[in-house]
Amino acid sequence: MQLIHTLDPLRSAVDALRSQGPVALVPTMGALHEGHLTLVREARRRAASVVVSIFVNPLQFGANEDLDAYPRQLERDCALLEAEGVDLVWAPSVEVMYPARFATNVSVSGVSEGLDGAARPGHFDGVATVVSKLFNQVRPDLALFGEKDWQQLAVIRRMARDLDLTLPRADAIHGVSTVREADGLAMSSRNAYLTPEQRAAAVALPQAMRAAIVEIESGVDVGDALAHLARTLLASGFLSVDYAELCDAADLSVLMARGPKPMRLLVAARIGKARLIDNMAVMPV
Ligand code: PAJ
Repeated sequence: MQLIHTLDPLRSAVDALRSQGPVALVPTMGALHEGHLTLVREARRRAASVVVSIFVNPLQFGANEDLDAYPRQLERDCALLEAEGVDLVWAPSVEVMYPARFATNVSVSGVSEGLDGAARPGHFDGVATVVSKLFNQVRPDLALFGEKDWQQLAVIRRMARDLDLTLPRADAIHGVSTVREADGLAMSSRNAYLTPEQRAAAVALPQAMRAAIVEIESGVDVGDALAHLARTLLASGFLSVDYAELCDAADLSVLMARGPKPMRLLVAARIGKARLIDNMAVMPV
């Protein structure tokens, strides 16, 4: 497995991989867990070579967010990726990714405006900017992202279509189902911020979401089900609920009632030092 930190060696290494067949890219910020490794395994099934990028992207963190605290463990991450048969780890420094006088911003409107876009101003601009750079740097045949970050996946799909970032394959931007701990909590690098007590309480998030989905699917008013969900989280040790919304699964418009198209329940809530997000499918009528 090659570990590369600068652009020219990256380009020649990826050219060599590409001559052997399709190349898949798995973008990450490191602190890898089973969720990331599931993306890597799916990438191996779908391509001849796998490139994993590890870059804690300052552009997608707000001024009061956890950029400095975000876990960085490159050596451990590389050992995990080597064991998965990854061919190349692309780990640029901030200076390589954003050289002095860097001045370009990729901003996707519409799908990136509500939910996390509203709660974290500038976040999706940072994601879209770095992912478009990663696509141009690696020029993969396909790229894999987790459904855990449902809105992020929607933003990246929109951006790739709008900018003709033609990754050549039909499944070029592939979404992978959320990987969960045994008790149902979605795996996240940010779960590491939780004390054991907070970690035990955090299971209320997927549980209350499942309960709300049962309510919505059995005809309870959506507003009532969402208010019940928020009350349950606050009573279970969560400090606040940033949002809890039923949305159109594709364009993320907020829905007041269950409808005929695929829908998603999306929640962001704070517990201890962590802000946790999760989303689940809701059956169409
Ligand atoms: P990061 O949070 O490290 O996540 C990297 C990829 O792993 C994302 O596509 C994310 O959705 C996926 N992932 C994380 N937890 C998961 C889980 N429990 N199950 C399935 N997939 C999971 O998302 C980012 O980094 C960044 O925003 C990035 C896209 C790399 C741009 O900087």
